[in-house]
Amino acid sequence: MTQTAIVGDRTAPGTVPYDVETVRRDFPVLAKPMHGKPLAYLDSGASAQKPAAVIDTVSRVYEGEYANVHRGAYWLSERATSLYEGAREKVRAFINAASEREIIFTRGATESINLVAQTWGRKMLREGDEIIISALEHHSNIVPWQMLRDEKGLVLKIAPINADGSFDMAGFEALLTDRTKLVAVAHVSNVLGTELPIKAITAKAKAVGAAVLIDGCQGIVHRPVDVATLGADFYVFSGHKLYGPTGIGVLWGREAVLDAMPPWMGGGDMISHVSFEKSEWAGLPAKFEAGTPPIVQAIGLGAAIDYVSQFGLAPVMTHEHALLGYAQGHMTEIDGLTLHGTAQGKTGIISFSMDCAHPHDIATVLDRAGVAIRAGHHCCQPLMDRCGVPAMARASFGMYTNRADVDALIRALRTVRDLFA
Ligand code: ALA
Repeated sequence: MTQTAIVGDRTAPGTVPYDVETVRRDFPVLAKPMHGKPLAYLDSGASAQKPAAVIDTVSRVYEGEYANVHRGAYWLSERATSLYEGAREKVRAFINAASEREIIFTRGATESINLVAQTWGRKMLREGDEIIISALEHHSNIVPWQMLRDEKGLVLKIAPINADGSFDMAGFEALLTDRTKLVAVAHVSNVLGTELPIKAITAKAKAVGAAVLIDGCQGIVHRPVDVATLGADFYVFSGHKLYGPTGIGVLWGREAVLDAMPPWMGGGDMISHVSFEKSEWAGLPAKFEAGTPPIVQAIGLGAAIDYVSQFGLAPVMTHEHALLGYAQGHMTEIDGLTLHGTAQGKTGIISFSMDCAHPHDIATVLDRAGVAIRAGHHCCQPLMDRCGVPAMARASFGMYTNRADVDALIRALRTVRDLFA
C-alpha cells in the first residue's frame, strides 16, 4: 500500500479507502502461522502489531539517517533531528494540539503520568487536596497518585462505574468538592472497552477548578482525539498500542501548564545553561526531555501516525463496531461464558470469564489454535475486585482484525468448553 504522509484531523475522510484485508497485508506478522494455524492476533490492547511502513522506517533510519539529535553540526545529526522534530509535528497535528511545545516525548504513557505526578503534582498539591480517579483505571493511573498521596497527605477518591461498565457520572459528580485539584481518568477502559465521557467529565472538573489528565492509551487507538476542544490539561498515550514502536510515549500538556511545571529528570538537552553553582532550564518541550531521547522510536511513531491517518478513523470505527457486535453475539451463545463490560458505544475490547476454566487455561487452549489473547488482571486489580473475579480473559481488536479472527476465537472457545465443562 502506498504510504502517504498525511496528518491532521483524524475524523476527516482518509485518502486511501479502508479495507481490512488490504490492511492485513501491510502487517507482516499476520501472514505467519502460529502452531500451524493462521494467527488470530487478538491482543492489540496490550500491544499492536506493526505495519511494514513502521518497520521499514525504523530500519531506514538506522541504516542511513541515524545520529544523535540536537547536537551535531553534520548532515546525519541534522537529518535525524529533522525527522525527530517532524514526528513531534505529526503527533501535534494528530491530536490537534496548539503547538509543538505542548508535545513531550517520553518512554510511554506510564512515564508521562509519573512525570505529571512528580512535577505538577508535587508543586501544585497540598495536604488535604483531593484527586479523583475512576474504578476502572489501569495501575499506571492509580499507583503514581497513591505515591503522591502518601508523600503529600492527599485524598484519593474513586469515581464509581455502573454494572455494565459505563462511567457513573452522578457518582463522580457527588465526589467533586472545592478541594478537588485533579481528575485523572482513562479515555477508554483497557479491560471493559468502555469509552468514558471525557468531555463531560472535564467540564465538571473544570467547574470546581480542578486540573484534568486523560489516560489515552486505548482512546488514541479507537477514538478521535482533539485536545483543542477537550478542555483537559494533560492527555497521555503510548506509541506501541498505536502501531508504533515500543519505548515511545507522549505527554500532551497545555502550554501554560507545562511552562509552570518544574523539570523532572535533569541532564543534557533540558538546560539552557549549567554552572557548578546553578542550572537554568531549556524551554518547552526540551525541559522535559533530559538525555538522549528515544529518537528512532519517535520517528517510528510518526510513521505509524502517517499509516493510520491515510484511512481516516471513521471507517475503522465502523468496521470495529460491526465486528464487536458479531463477536459478542456469538460469545454469549457459549454456555457459561460471561462478558465483562457491555456499555453502549464500547470499543473492540472484550473481557470475559468462563465458569469451566481459568483465564490462563482459556488463553493456553486458544494459543494452540493460533488465537492470541491476554489473560490475567490486565494491570487493573481494583477493577477485578469490583467485578468479583481474580482475573479475566480478554480479546482486543486492532485495525487489522477481521471476521476470520473472531471465528477462530469462537471455535477455540467452544473447544475450551468441550474440554473443561
Ligand atoms: N495496558 C496494557 C493492556 O491492557 C498492557 O494489556
